Amino acid sequence: MSTPLRLGIAGLGTVGMGVLKIIRRHGEMLAARAGRAIEISAVSARSRDKDRGISLSAYAWEDDPVALARREDVDVFVELMGGSDGPAKAATEAAIAAGKDVVTANKAMLAIHGQALAEAAEAKGHVIRFEAAVAGGIPVMKALTEGLAGNEITRVMGVMNGTCNYILTRMQGAGLSYDEVFEEARRLGYLEADPTLDVGGIDAAHKLALLASVAFGTRVAFDAVEIEGIERITIEDIHQAADMGFRIKLLGVAQMTARGLEQRMSPCLVPADSPLGQLEGGTNMVVLEGDSAGQIVLRGAGAGEGPTASAVMSDVIDIARHTRIPTFGQPARSLATAKPARAATPAPWYLRMQLEDKPGALARIAAVLGESGISINRMRQYGHEEPTAPVLIVTHKTTREALDHALPRLGDTGVLAGEPVAIRIEDV
Ligand code: NAP
Ligand code: HSE
Repeated sequence: MSTPLRLGIAGLGTVGMGVLKIIRRHGEMLAARAGRAIEISAVSARSRDKDRGISLSAYAWEDDPVALARREDVDVFVELMGGSDGPAKAATEAAIAAGKDVVTANKAMLAIHGQALAEAAEAKGHVIRFEAAVAGGIPVMKALTEGLAGNEITRVMGVMNGTCNYILTRMQGAGLSYDEVFEEARRLGYLEADPTLDVGGIDAAHKLALLASVAFGTRVAFDAVEIEGIERITIEDIHQAADMGFRIKLLGVAQMTARGLEQRMSPCLVPADSPLGQLEGGTNMVVLEGDSAGQIVLRGAGAGEGPTASAVMSDVIDIARHTRIPTFGQPARSLATAKPARAATPAPWYLRMQLEDKPGALARIAAVLGESGISINRMRQYGHEEPTAPVLIVTHKTTREALDHALPRLGDTGVLAGEPVAIRIEDV
């Protein structure tokens, strides 16, 4: 019988306890599949006394995750504490220095320090694996690094923050305002401790940056992701979008263009009848496009104890089987540095504005768009509210630059009441 693979698990919260439960529940099955037993040597969390519903007496306890990472009876350090820096990074670095493989669900840490950590691990012949960090239970990293390994990836996109998708679909379904659903999400415990990570698009942007690195063979460039959250989405926009056959999603898109690597995480209109448009509640969806395979759509739970622990176990089993795929799908030192391209791909845009209801107002708006090189595809005035009139415009395909030229000039016309709303319409 081969020697067991011995884990040290730092973090016994939602994900850590999920991993522990899978190992206890499916020990024999895991050993059969991996060809060797998978055991837990030691664990660590902040509070030793917390009742976690399961006895931890079978495992050694370390107060300090760095000490756990260095233990001789640990082959794989499983980092499930979270946070881009602090103990997660210190313990991961200690594990690498001590010659251990690492499995983590920590997108924040890898989006910022992934390159340095992967280079350090690979220099010692070790791997860092992070299936759980992107879209929770969806095996997207496996799909990219194995199933689609023979493809040039042309585009990756997805809804990768379940909380935002819950908020947007609940607003639509119940006709509630953003603030009302945000409070509901808080009550239900869906929001991260810092909710701007969710609604500000940052958590999803961390995931997109990791996905883009693996898809395009480039160094993780989280700073180059254009990020816009869902905070300014109103029930009015959701209704108007629905009226035109669209849904609003917090959509991440990464693609390699002639101008460089485009990475954006922002609210977008997508066709209501597309797989992304039909995604309801807290579910995630990742769409991968390969030059030979075409479009692959993966849908599933992006968070939660079972789904996230399932992804962690997939990485652990790979290591037990001696399947050693580099962190970002190819050696970290061979990753290219991509030139960032800001929203290089033209798209139609949805524009909603509140116009003063006076002669020539609409003509002035149309003139500004024309001077900015933006052509109008559809336009309508609806729900007249004295003394202003709401106007909806759908443009033909245009660039972000043209839009950035037009938006301040629309404000300068003196015929707008309030800021115009501009949302990209994505071709999915
Ligand atoms: P969590 O429930 O808040 O658990 C965090 C755990 O880390 C707790 O057990 C905590 O100890 C421990 N911890 C925190 N600081 C520590 C320190 N300084 N030393 C030792 N232990 C420490 O978090 P989670 O939801 O399981 O998330 C863990 C990781 O998975 C994060 O990177 C997160 O982004 C990622 N992730 C989570 C999900 C999800 O659905 N939850 C999905 C995908 C990815 P105590 O229990 O004693 O407080
Ligand atoms: N806050 C995240 C979400 C959890 O809502 O999808 C998983 O990363």
